[in-house]
Amino acid sequence: MKSTSDFIEMKKNNEKITMLTAYDYPSARQAEAAGVDMILVGDSLGMTVLGYSSTVEVTLEDMIHHTRAVRRGAPDTYIVADMPFGTYHVSREEAVRNAIRLYQESGANAVKIEGGHLQKFIHTLVDAGVPVVGHLGLTPQSVGITGFKMQASSREEAEELLDTLETFETLGAVMTVLEAIPGDLAVKAAERVDIPLIGIGAGAGTDGQVLVYHDILKYGTGKPPKFVKQYGDFDEIGVKGIKQYVREVKELKFPDEQTTYKKKVYEDENNQ
Ligand code: KIV
Ligand code: NA
Repeated sequence: MKSTSDFIEMKKNNEKITMLTAYDYPSARQAEAAGVDMILVGDSLGMTVLGYSSTVEVTLEDMIHHTRAVRRGAPDTYIVADMPFGTYHVSREEAVRNAIRLYQESGANAVKIEGGHLQKFIHTLVDAGVPVVGHLGLTPQSVGITGFKMQASSREEAEELLDTLETFETLGAVMTVLEAIPGDLAVKAAERVDIPLIGIGAGAGTDGQVLVYHDILKYGTGKPPKFVKQYGDFDEIGVKGIKQYVREVKELKFPDEQTTYKKKVYEDENNQ
């Protein structure tokens, strides 16, 4: 399993870091088999696998439950798990208690928190021994305030993001996700700090990329955001396969000889 020092080394050597979300045992197995450098158990699971309209409804229990499954599927991959909405916002005490639970009970290597205004909690978590990943730019837990759109589009907001990023590094964050920001800002950001920056909708200038499993494989999702590239079509394969199964049962083609146990337990009766 790669470690945070490996990721810093990769940044230094200009070797791009690959990250993909996974939410359950099979997706984690696939991610590990494909050789991704790290897995994010994103609170995007609220939308991708639980069918909520945002990440706001996701609970700490949901995150622990799914992250444990991902760990079982990817025992040798570095895993980051999202702290969900409301679990690190109220007080330092609650933030630490919840971060410790997620870290300790789920098997994650680090926890991720969103938003610059929450930087005051980073040090507290790091102090407790929990590796913390930051998340700046578009932070979907605040979608009620920001909307789903590009962030840091003015010079002033861009400078503010860079300042926050430096603070994250100083406070001990192991890396930071940058979401939906202008590409030139991401280039500046990656130069500004030594910690790896993982981009999503931030262009090619970051030290690595993260995308959502269900988006890249077109699996149960609607129209993806501009920054997504699709590498497969699970929906088409899945619906096609299920349709054929339904058809074959109706047409008495399944089960057939091959899929039926051949042992006869009523042989004697049949022979009478
Ligand atoms: O929850 C998630 O999938 C994320 C990524 C989009 C970075 O936070
Ligand atoms: Na997230």
